[in-house]
Amino acid sequence: MKIFLDTADTESIKKWSTTGLIDGVTTNPTLLSKEGGDPKKRVLDICALLPNGDVSIEVTQKEPQAVYKQAKIISELSKNVVVKIPCHKSYYAVINKLVKEGVQLNITLVFTLLQSLMMAKLGVKYISPFVGRWDDIDVPGTHVLEELRLMIDTYKFETQVLAASLRNVRHFHDAVLSGADVATLPLPVFEKSLMHPLTDKGMVKFDADWQKLGVRQFP
Ligand code: G3P
Repeated sequence: MKIFLDTADTESIKKWSTTGLIDGVTTNPTLLSKEGGDPKKRVLDICALLPNGDVSIEVTQKEPQAVYKQAKIISELSKNVVVKIPCHKSYYAVINKLVKEGVQLNITLVFTLLQSLMMAKLGVKYISPFVGRWDDIDVPGTHVLEELRLMIDTYKFETQVLAASLRNVRHFHDAVLSGADVATLPLPVFEKSLMHPLTDKGMVKFDADWQKLGVRQFP
């Protein structure tokens, strides 16, 4: 399973990329706006930090033809760019054309099995179901991940499920169990998933017991 960081914070991406756990990054207009500065420089920096990882960069245009042109420009920024396009019916023809031209796409703002089926038929690289935003309207969001896994395996599509809008460690846990190909994690969720209080407590006890032995050098 691949782990992406859902952030545009270059310092954190740099820090965590040294662990060898990070396979890519997903950005969006909200995340880039939060960091401020020049978004083009920022996405180029992110691409350079993870030269072998997929970096999703979202279109900001609205008209389909403008989305097409912008997607082509974004795709040429770096060899590891994946262009993010919202799963809206007005972009279906554009998505179809871009896939045929070999542009790697991550279809974002996906909520249902049927939206996902259409995108898998078009041959996009990733579909990003938004788990947390289902939860926001009191519908359990992780169910859609299980449905997508079943649909993709049944019909043998190549498209990968990229679990997105994961707000907590439970969402991450459920994404793993669902068989999602990728989980993209906000930094607090990634960092929390690395820790457990019983690990910390156990280390303190091992150390206290070891000190009782009074050994200065070991081995
Ligand atoms: O990857 C998509 C993600 O950034 C959206 O998350 O928490 O804004 O629903 P959220």
